[in-house]
Amino acid sequence: MVSPLPDSPSALHSPAAERNKQPIFEALQALLPPSGRALEIASGSGQHIAHFAAGLPGWLWLASDPSPEARASIAAWWPQGPAALALDVQNTDWDLPAEHLPLDLIHCANMLHISPWASSAALFQGASRYLAETGLLTVYGPFVVPGEPTAPSNLAFDADLRSRNPAWGLRSLDEVQACAHDAGLQLRQRLKQPANNLLLVFARQA
Ligand SMILES: C[S@@+](CC[C@H](N)C(=O)[O-])C[C@H]1O[C@@H](n2cnc3c(N)ncnc32)[C@H](O)[C@@H]1O
Repeated sequence: MVSPLPDSPSALHSPAAERNKQPIFEALQALLPPSGRALEIASGSGQHIAHFAAGLPGWLWLASDPSPEARASIAAWWPQGPAALALDVQNTDWDLPAEHLPLDLIHCANMLHISPWASSAALFQGASRYLAETGLLTVYGPFVVPGEPTAPSNLAFDADLRSRNPAWGLRSLDEVQACAHDAGLQLRQRLKQPANNLLLVFARQA
C-alpha cells in the first residue's frame, strides 16, 4: 500500500515513520476486529494514521497531538480525516467527542521515551477512562526489558535522549507494566517489531 506524498509545505516527513508504518499496521491488522473506534495519541507527522486508516477502512480514526506543527502535518498527510485533536495526555480531560466513545483502540507510538515519565502514567490512566471494556491500548517504541540485553543502538538512543532532556529516556518494561497495573490494565502481548522496537498490547485486567 503506497500513500501519496503530500505536496503541502506543512507536511512533516519522518523517515522512521515511513519505515515502521507497515510493520505496525500488520500487527494491528492481526489484532483488531474489522471495525471499531480508534484514537491515536501523539500522531506526530500523521504518516502512521494515514496509513492505518487507509488499510483498516472499517475503523473510525481520530488523530491527536499537542503540537500545532504536528496537527498541520496530520491534515496534510490525511486530508480526508477529521481535524486532529490538540490532546496532551497529561490533561485529565481528553475532551474526546462523545460520538467517538468508548474507544476500541488507543494507539500510541514513540511518545513514552520522548516525554516525562508523568506522560506514561497519564497515558494509562486516560486509557482506563476512555477504553471500552474490551478495548486495547497499543504502545509502540523502544523499551528496556529487564533480564534481556538492550541493543547497542537503543542504548545510544537512550543516552542521546537523556542528554537532550534528563526527563526523557527509554522506559523499562517492568515500570511500564506497573504503571499499567495501577490504571487497571495488564500487558496481554509483547510483539517484536523491526529495529529492536516492541508493540505492547494492553487490555483491562481480567
Ligand atoms: C517522536 S514523535 C512520534 C510521532 C509518531 N507517533 C511516530 O511514531 O512517528 C513524539 C510525539 O509525541 C508528542 N507528545 C509529546 N508529549 C506529549 C503529551 N504529553 N501528550 C501527547 N503527545 C505528546 C509530540 O508532540 C510528538 O509529536
